[in-house]
Amino acid sequence: DLPNTITLANITYNTDAHTNIPPSLTPYLSRTLHLHRHHPISNTRKTIESLFPTTQYEIYNTLPPVVTVAQNFDCLGFPSDHVGRSRSDTYYVNRHQVLRTHTSAHQAEKFRAMQSGGREGEEGAGKMGYLISADVYRRDAIDRSHYPVFHQMEGARLFSRSHPSAKTIEEQVEEELQGMKVEGVEVVESCAIHEEGNGVQVEKGHSVSEAEAVAKHLKRQLEMVVSKIFYQAAGTAATSEEKVKVRWVSAYFPFTSPSYELEVWWNGEWLEVLGCGVIKQDLLNYAGQGDKIGWAFGVGIERIAMLMYGIPDIRLFWSNDERFSGQFREGAVKKFEAFSKYPGCYKDVAFWVPSSERGSAAGGLTVGEGTGGEGFHENDFMELVRGVGGDLVEDVKLIDEFTHPKSGRKSMCYRINYRSLERTLTNEEVDGLQERVRSTLTDKLGVELR
Ligand code: PHE
Repeated sequence: DLPNTITLANITYNTDAHTNIPPSLTPYLSRTLHLHRHHPISNTRKTIESLFPTTQYEIYNTLPPVVTVAQNFDCLGFPSDHVGRSRSDTYYVNRHQVLRTHTSAHQAEKFRAMQSGGREGEEGAGKMGYLISADVYRRDAIDRSHYPVFHQMEGARLFSRSHPSAKTIEEQVEEELQGMKVEGVEVVESCAIHEEGNGVQVEKGHSVSEAEAVAKHLKRQLEMVVSKIFYQAAGTAATSEEKVKVRWVSAYFPFTSPSYELEVWWNGEWLEVLGCGVIKQDLLNYAGQGDKIGWAFGVGIERIAMLMYGIPDIRLFWSNDERFSGQFREGAVKKFEAFSKYPGCYKDVAFWVPSSERGSAAGGLTVGEGTGGEGFHENDFMELVRGVGGDLVEDVKLIDEFTHPKSGRKSMCYRINYRSLERTLTNEEVDGLQERVRSTLTDKLGVELR
């Protein structure tokens, strides 16, 4: 019953057994919230962009969301068995194309575009850095901070080993750092390369001191971003009295080494703000930038916007309600004033999970293709609930799970919390939604309701 083609943002693609994009997702591909003047996603993007000089960084904000598997995974060095590639985590247009799961999908092509020789005037040519903001797509849980579509900003910066005045990477970095002062940020853990010990290595072909210089530039640049964002969020100036505490934590990404996460102490806990690292040399070589060394970072714009404006629920960004959109102005940060919270209502649904054979026969919704395992994937359930309830579903939680001691069958019970951001839902409406969740579950996932 799968159509032969799928049309996404006005382009038609062939489908195949990999296709798993539900019709309910397609309208999001044309929303481009990051480009809507005054929208908090756009305002946040612009705030971050303002910290990167346009003479050095090319800005790309209109790259289309359908990319190849090669762009999204292969050329970034994702291992062939990486979970990110599975159909339970990623939206496939067909076996060769996906909705990008991160803005890093554009790294290689934009590094390539930096080459200036004979390409003068072309976007990106001659610049040593870029910023990319775009919508990204992931199959995931349903709650106040997860949505199948969100926005990321990617940044990257290269340094040349064949600098016109023969400056070393270290010298180039030191020179630039003079002009990059950060106010009001205290780094409590720096994760310096020479302290990192056995686990973390410098890329082959990079000297420790070169990699250290690049990492230092990266960290300084991102600490500037944090200073700007968090003082705006707190509504105070970056005075020296109470500093924003940050720490650099060692991380893993297939395309950077060393890799870090930046965490900020916020409301009494360490909040993970972004991922970044020194770009692996293979990727730069592949993009025709073998004589360069550099860094990249990726940040989730919703997360930053939520804390800057005090927005409590990620669904709000998609709301067309004037009471939401009317509150924001470019260039000004005023905390979001919640309009009254409407009553919510929860419904539980319990079912027996099908054995793996039946699961993979059920509409091809499972990971499939030799991964074996169970015939039920939570993200399939999440998507089904979204397909029925849309933004009326606030969150979905697993509240019980057990395996029958005799039959060995597995039972799951989920609680679906229904709440509208805009009005009070009627009982009949919620009952109707829950009834549709139940029948779709049997039809599409082949589960047996209890
Ligand atoms: N793309 C990574 C993610 O989505 C973030 C990242 C970007 C990490 C660039 C390192 C460098 O999680």
